[in-house]
Amino acid sequence: MHSDADILSLLMSRTPGYSLPQAFYADEDVFQADMKHIWHKEWVFAIPSAELPKTGNYVTLEFGAYSIIIVRGADGQVRSFHNSCRHRGSRICSASKGSSPKLVCPYHQWTYELDGKLLWAREMGEDFKPENHGLKPVHCADVSGMVFICLADVAPDISDLKAQASRYLGPHDLSNLKVAHQSTITEKANWKLVLENNRECYHCSGSHPSLCRTFSDDPNLVGGDDSSSSNVGLAHVDRCEKAGLPAKYVINDGEQWRFVRIPFLGDAVSYTMDGKAAVSRRVGSVPFDNAGTCLFFHYPNTWNHFLSDSVLTFSVLPVGPMETRVTTTWLVHKDAQEGVDYDLKRLTEVWVHTNDEDRQIVEENQIGINSPAYEPGPYSPVQESGVIQFVDWYAQTLEKGLVRRFRVAAE
Ligand code: FES
Ligand SMILES: [Fe+2]
Repeated sequence: MHSDADILSLLMSRTPGYSLPQAFYADEDVFQADMKHIWHKEWVFAIPSAELPKTGNYVTLEFGAYSIIIVRGADGQVRSFHNSCRHRGSRICSASKGSSPKLVCPYHQWTYELDGKLLWAREMGEDFKPENHGLKPVHCADVSGMVFICLADVAPDISDLKAQASRYLGPHDLSNLKVAHQSTITEKANWKLVLENNRECYHCSGSHPSLCRTFSDDPNLVGGDDSSSSNVGLAHVDRCEKAGLPAKYVINDGEQWRFVRIPFLGDAVSYTMDGKAAVSRRVGSVPFDNAGTCLFFHYPNTWNHFLSDSVLTFSVLPVGPMETRVTTTWLVHKDAQEGVDYDLKRLTEVWVHTNDEDRQIVEENQIGINSPAYEPGPYSPVQESGVIQFVDWYAQTLEKGLVRRFRVAAE
């Protein structure tokens, strides 16, 4: 049993540049602290808005102890609510996705508008005020076609992210894309192992034969510092920027999110086995096929690839200390027809393989960490600087949350 004070002192005792002590990857109390101080405080990527093309389309997310509905209203706006009826609390939508003109609670049929207002409740007496019983809203932001939600009372400022996203993601015009495919896999590993694995390609040559056909594992392709970036990477950035396509590496002050556009290997233009485009229709206003991939990560839960012919989004949600759900969504131009403009297997196979390979890696990582013999080991400063950056962000964010909690308790 770890108290918040124990967790804070364990956090302060970590060695920077080393993997974390075992409890951070395996312990239930640390997991609860992560949920409380990070996952339920920060903006979290939920879905691409293209998943809700029409009025009344909804998805539900099980997010820690919370159940959330995300729904497109009659006015076209995407909103998010707690999936808990204001009568006696029943879950309203039990399906993971669906479509409905109103949100109707299955228990006693209280009926809500898609904007959360309570429209109808039978025989509740004269004093009953429907306006006091609307669905509880959850902060919801559309970031260039990516829907983020936040469970905090006061959500962190998201305006800088929105501004940069409109520059980097705007050219891919997510509002005119459709979902071609979606996969959700469960990985038996702590969410931080999933993120750490994503933030390095030290493992790529040994584990990802399909991905390595098109994706460079050079950690210095394009970094924050031009002097340490490769010539190939910088030439790609220069060519994109000259064509009006934002590409330069940009990271925010708190180092929670980053955009950068990197080239594929050789002549490749997409994540396919032969490197050729997977979809014959280019997305948005991307000026050429060989635009590489715009990488966008936002902690704690998403990394994404924006290509000339498709977009791949990834949403990570923790289920338990050693269980994490990863949802991958492949988006293509909304007018592209399967079997005519793209072949689904060609479009998806590289990342279907890659996701499964990553699942195996992080599950083995978890099993090894669970051994009493595990002790934190050093990250490669050359190959794993992204992991060091993520773990530092995590440690600082959790520390801030725990310290704030003690300050509030002392007041
Ligand atoms: S709990 Fe929803 S209508 Fe009764
Ligand atoms: Fe990987």
